[in-house]
Amino acid sequence: MIVILIGYMASGKSTMGRILAKKLNYEFLDLDDYIEKKESSTIKDIFKLKGEIHFRKLETQYLSELLATKTNLVLSLGGGTPCYSNNMDVILKAPNAKSIYLKASIPTLIERLKNEKGKRPLIAHIETDELLAEFIGKHLFERSQFYSLANVTLATDNKTEKDIIEELVLQLF
Ligand code: S3P
Repeated sequence: MIVILIGYMASGKSTMGRILAKKLNYEFLDLDDYIEKKESSTIKDIFKLKGEIHFRKLETQYLSELLATKTNLVLSLGGGTPCYSNNMDVILKAPNAKSIYLKASIPTLIERLKNEKGKRPLIAHIETDELLAEFIGKHLFERSQFYSLANVTLATDNKTEKDIIEELVLQLF
């Protein structure tokens, strides 16, 4: 099986993905890390030097590559991956794959992203907390239509990592 974790930036995809993979004895991959390795560049530099459209093409290409070649994998996507090209369709149609939306509330995301803007090109330039809150609210609203197509939606607010992993495992088997 391939478990695909989707959700907004800072929703815990990579953290939970790593723990889940260990528990299932599966390989873990983070799509952003995979892109960085394959392209020998950072996401920040890809955005800066080649632009977002180029980054979105790479995301689509490597997502398809991984879904076609891997098994026993937990794959964390980038926050935007399900929302571009026909990626969500590809995710839903991938044989033996299960997609999970890690749903965090807007206040939780704002709190986490306030301190982690630097490495995220989409929000790095937003100067005040109010503007960041406004951006996240609108952006999440647009993206929710894609995220909510996932096979499973799991609300994560006020839950421990252990709670989330237990719920994930219950949903998977
Ligand atoms: C993006 C999210 C990032 C990364 C890129 C774009 C997005 O991944 O793919 O900066 O469009 O939401 P994380 O969700 O891991 O931060």
